[in-house]
Amino acid sequence: MSDRFLFDSNVILDYLLQRSFPDSIKLYGQCLENGISILVSAAQLHTIEYVFLKQVKQDAPTQIGTAKLAFQAFLNEVSIVKTPVLIEKNHPLALRDMEDYLIEISAEAADVTIVTRDAGFVRLSKRCILTEQALAMLDEKRSLQASAKVAFLDLKAPHIEMRAELEAAFDRTLNSGWYILGNEVKQFEHEFANYCEAKFCVGVGNGLEALHLILRAYGIGEGDEVIVPSNTYIATWLAASHAGATPIPVEPDERTYNIDPALIEAAITPRTKAIIAVHLYGQPADMDAINAIAKTHNLKVIEDAAQAHGARYKGIRVGTLGDAAGFSFYPGKNLGALGDGGAVTTNDPVLADKVRVLSNYGSRVKYYNEVKGYNSRLDELQAAFLREKIKKLDEWNGRRKAVAAEYLKLLADADIVLPFVPEWADPIWHLFIVRNAERDQLQKKLSDAGIGTMIHYPVPPHLQQAYSEAGYTKGQFPIAERLANQVLSLPMGPQLSVKQVGGVCEIFTKAV
Ligand SMILES: Cc1ncc(COP(=O)(O)O)c(C=O)c1O
Repeated sequence: MSDRFLFDSNVILDYLLQRSFPDSIKLYGQCLENGISILVSAAQLHTIEYVFLKQVKQDAPTQIGTAKLAFQAFLNEVSIVKTPVLIEKNHPLALRDMEDYLIEISAEAADVTIVTRDAGFVRLSKRCILTEQALAMLDEKRSLQASAKVAFLDLKAPHIEMRAELEAAFDRTLNSGWYILGNEVKQFEHEFANYCEAKFCVGVGNGLEALHLILRAYGIGEGDEVIVPSNTYIATWLAASHAGATPIPVEPDERTYNIDPALIEAAITPRTKAIIAVHLYGQPADMDAINAIAKTHNLKVIEDAAQAHGARYKGIRVGTLGDAAGFSFYPGKNLGALGDGGAVTTNDPVLADKVRVLSNYGSRVKYYNEVKGYNSRLDELQAAFLREKIKKLDEWNGRRKAVAAEYLKLLADADIVLPFVPEWADPIWHLFIVRNAERDQLQKKLSDAGIGTMIHYPVPPHLQQAYSEAGYTKGQFPIAERLANQVLSLPMGPQLSVKQVGGVCEIFTKAV
């Protein structure tokens, strides 16, 4: 049961008329005090207004002006949930009481719990509870919060926060009748290019495909080598492999966790065609140093910006720091869709055009295929959602920065390695990573105390079964291996409060 409440009309009227139902009044008051949204269905508003004003007229006719103002104030403090477009008129609840049925389907669409005093409604409804049960739920929620339980990632909260915008985006797409490569993708590409301060953006199916298509578009494939970090998510390597090239790992700088430019030159051979620099965990790689090496050896530089939407390197947004960049809109990313999605950004018109053609069956004109392309397009509906979410990106990245600042302050003396931020980096804290030699015990202790953590990543790509044919052995990339054994990602996200971070740090300092 959701602990977000849609109030039945009887409970609202108890509050507005101060009727002698103390649980209704207490519940309404507690929600107001604690900033918990009070939801009502659009279907109830007329009845509530009618009954409220009629009662006031009857009991205290001189107060009618005040009552009208009170009703306006009520409208201002509640959130109104629309009813779905079409309804099942013969539903048993609809046959008993149409208004209750409309409340039920509003609550179902918003995924919230109805609170009522009507036991008959509770019996017929799938999501209805009595006022006393709602008060008990709030008590339980408070005690849970006091126990400082924090999930590693809450993907639902940010989307609930912007439900109205997401629903409008869905309605817009549904009503357009155009579901592949329509106006939403076109507009989003334009908006994301602007955001990244890039000349071009091409939407694609996901982050892996973004990198893969860039390599294909540059003609990198069979017999070629692509330099990749040894410490990254496997997608960076897979992009090279899927293009037919060989990923050549280079160890990271142990302070920044990003590819160490000082080690790149030694990995370059006559077959090397490109370097994929990953802005891991949301922190930009040292692009000037990487670009300088690439220039000397005539290599392409591709940014893997899957974890770094909005991060800046020496004041410049990631996405234009190399020849081309691949982004992922996987739901957990700083800019995440409600499904898969990805994009390529670049200032190179030829590359942008090639990626666009490759991503759409090798076709520029429908049913005429220039090359053997792929089906890897950014979904129209996901683009519509992303257009709403990109409006929040800077604000949410800002909230992540506040969370990171609090961690850095509260954990400054803890026996762990904290993230290091070079003076030229403006990271957007996709993840907040700490390191400790006793990582597994630490993770267990935190988990026992209700703190969710994750490991990014427990096995480096060279030791994954998927790359067994390459014949890598343990110890060959010791920094990546050490990181895999020591890194721990603490809860991080725009919905995390500074108070929650304090709770995590209190438990953390005792556990470490
Ligand atoms: C560093 C990195 N590169 C590439 C990807 C691939 O993105 P996607 O999952 O959208 O294919 C991811 C995300 O999972 C990632 O973290």
